[in-house]
Amino acid sequence: MKTRVRFTVNGDTIDTAIDVRATLLDFIREELRLTGTKKGCDHGQCGACTVLVDGKRSLSCLKFAASLEGRAVITIEGIGKPDALHPLQAAFIKHDAFQCGFCTSGQIMSALEVIGDPLANTCEAISEKMSGNLCRCGAYPNIVAAIMEVKSNGTV
Ligand code: FES
Ligand code: FES
Repeated sequence: MKTRVRFTVNGDTIDTAIDVRATLLDFIREELRLTGTKKGCDHGQCGACTVLVDGKRSLSCLKFAASLEGRAVITIEGIGKPDALHPLQAAFIKHDAFQCGFCTSGQIMSALEVIGDPLANTCEAISEKMSGNLCRCGAYPNIVAAIMEVKSNGTV
């Protein structure tokens, strides 16, 4: 069964009939072909699928696309371009904050919320706030260093 839904993804209006069983993750990857958002566990455990919904981080594998009427979704494709990186993207490169890169989109989308969190003001607090985003390559110290630099300077 499909239902008509209208919302935005990276500022573009989506107005279409969506299978009521489709997750936001599958919709943005399979229908919109925005494959920067990754499917890790598909069960809300790893954070690889993190996007922003109305400015708040959200696990897109746990959200039905049909529930997004009127909402604004931002994916990794919506925050920077290869020739105009978001400061977090530049900081992840500078600090070597990834190896395989599979978790990186989700890490950066989560970090977007964390850099605006006044309680995340130490490396320990940032680690705690980022604990829902797993990295099998173990790049955690470098991820925290990248976030800390952007949080401290607003840039890299
Ligand atoms: S794919 Fe969504 S939390 Fe792992
Ligand atoms: S960089 Fe490989 S899982 Fe994080």
